[in-house]
Parts: sequence; structure tokens; C-alpha cells
Amino acid sequence: MPDSNRTPTAQLRADGSLRHLLTLEGLPTPVVRQLLERSAHYARPLSTPAARSNALVGRTVAVMFAEPSTRTRVSFELAARRLGADVINIEVQLSSRLKGESVLDTVATLEAMYVDAFVLRDADATVPDLVASHVAEHVSVLSGGAGSQTHPTQGLLDALTVRQHKGRIEGLRIAIVGDIRHSRVARSSWQAFAALGAEEIRIVAPQGLMPGEQEFKDCKRFTSLEAGIESCDVVMMLRIQKERMTALSIPDEASYFAEWGLTTERLRAAKPDAIVMHPQPMNRGVEIASDVADGPQSVIRDQVRNGVAVRMAVLEATLSGGRR
Ligand code: NCD
Repeated sequence: MPDSNRTPTAQLRADGSLRHLLTLEGLPTPVVRQLLERSAHYARPLSTPAARSNALVGRTVAVMFAEPSTRTRVSFELAARRLGADVINIEVQLSSRLKGESVLDTVATLEAMYVDAFVLRDADATVPDLVASHVAEHVSVLSGGAGSQTHPTQGLLDALTVRQHKGRIEGLRIAIVGDIRHSRVARSSWQAFAALGAEEIRIVAPQGLMPGEQEFKDCKRFTSLEAGIESCDVVMMLRIQKERMTALSIPDEASYFAEWGLTTERLRAAKPDAIVMHPQPMNRGVEIASDVADGPQSVIRDQVRNGVAVRMAVLEATLSGGRR
């Protein structure tokens, strides 16, 4: 989150159009719904050619990730290309930031090369917001994952995936399971599900991985897997984010799987037609058994496919309102 001394940057332009996408928190629900409608337009079955348009011809998108990524980075890049934009990929580990250049200087350098949008991932949750508050008026900033706090396009793609399989979000009982405390996916997906009217959202985690009481308002909390997923329509599993832990508050992987791994047998506690989600990367045999990950209730591949569609919708929405 932006540090407490700074006012978070406004995400909407004066005319109400979306300029930046930094967080789903506080984003008006009609904007969330519009993004989902447009994402659904771009989401095509794998048996048909990928959607394409010329909406962003002549625009330039910089994808600048300072943390590992496969799906998010590639899908932002493909999304921008499929809309006709020029894309540059900056491996932050190989860029001048290693020589001590500040992120704002790197961004200013790229702005001088006519970059219109920055997609940023950083372990420091304040970085996308900081950049958004410094770029020129016609430039947009999108979070591709900020610390343990925000991952707005993941929240949208999770909502789109649930809607495709269940026809709605309203009235559903959704369990988010695992390392909630360190998960930006849990935060953003919860915000999306809550905005779209989920009936009940549960956070299910060992006590050491539960977020503080002031977070995840109105979520029901469970510290047992079976009780937490009982009668749920959606079960979303999360990876243990060891890279964000200062002191390891979980047992070894085998003991974690024994108590917290989603197996076929345990999944029976959820509704018979429950869907299983995971943002990936997955640790098979730690938070999820392979046969569940690849089983008939899994929609994990659809989440990935929807990621490209959502990022097309978000790039189009932010960039089409901000011509220089
Ligand atoms: C997640 C992330 O980076 O936040 N992955 C993703 O973007 N799909 C989840 C994770 O790293 O566990």
C-alpha cells in the first residue's frame, strides 16, 4: 500500500475514465463490471484464434518487472501486442537500477522515448503508486503485482473465471485458502469478489498465515481446511510465499501438505460442482495435490487464458483515454 504519508494517486481521470490500475480497492463497481465485459469480449476458446485489434497501434507499453514472473509478464506483453502496441520488456535485474538508478529516473528515461504505459511489478508495494504520481498526464501505470498488497489484474481474471464457470459472482460462497497474510492475489481477488456481490468470502489459513484483524473486513475466518471449504462454490488455493516471510511461520512442506494440501478427498467437503482455482506458480504436493490441479474441477488453465483477455481490456481502457 502507499505509505501513510502519501495520498494514493487517483486512478480515474476527471471525465471518469480509467487512467491507472493500481488497486481494485475503491474502484467504482461499474468500472470493474465494464472491464469484465470487455475482458469477456477478448476471451476466446483455445480452439479459435486469439482476439486481436488495432486499438493501440502507435502506442508503446513498457513492462518492467523487478520480481520473477511467467504468466503476468508474458500475458501483459501478449495483450499489448495483440492490440497493436509496441512493447518493451525491461529486465530490472539487468537494467541501470542495478547501478543505483532510481526507479523514477528509469521511468523518466523511458518516458523520453515515448512510452505511454508502464506495467510494474515490485517487491516494494509503494512503487507503482509512486511512479503513477510522477508520470506525465498522458501516461498510465498498471500494477503487475505490488509486494503483498495488490495484483488488480489477477483479481479481475479470477472474477472473470468464476463468472464463466458459475454464471455469476452474486450469491456464491468462496474460500481463499493458504498464505493469505503475504498474498496480493488474496487481497485483490477478495476485493473483486466483494465488489461483485459474493454472498460469503472465507479466508482459510493456519493461524500464522492469517492477516491482521483489521484486514479482509467481513470475511469469515477459518483455521481448518475442511471446515473452511465446506459447502463452498469456489476454492482458491495459494502458494506459501516464503520470499515474503521474515521468520518462517509454517512447518516443512510435507507437514503442510498433510494438514493444508487440497486432495481429492478433502475437496469433497466443498459443493460437488465447486471449482478449484490457483493463481500459480503451484507447488504440487505442498498446497495442492497434482490430481486436483489437473482434475475435472480445476479451472487453473482458464485463469491463465483469461489473464491475456483481462490485460487487453485494461490496457485498452487506460490507454484509449490518454492520448498525448
Ligand atoms: C502470483 C503473484 O506473483 O502474486 N502469481 C501470479 O501473478 N499469477 C502468486 C504467487 O506468486 O504465488
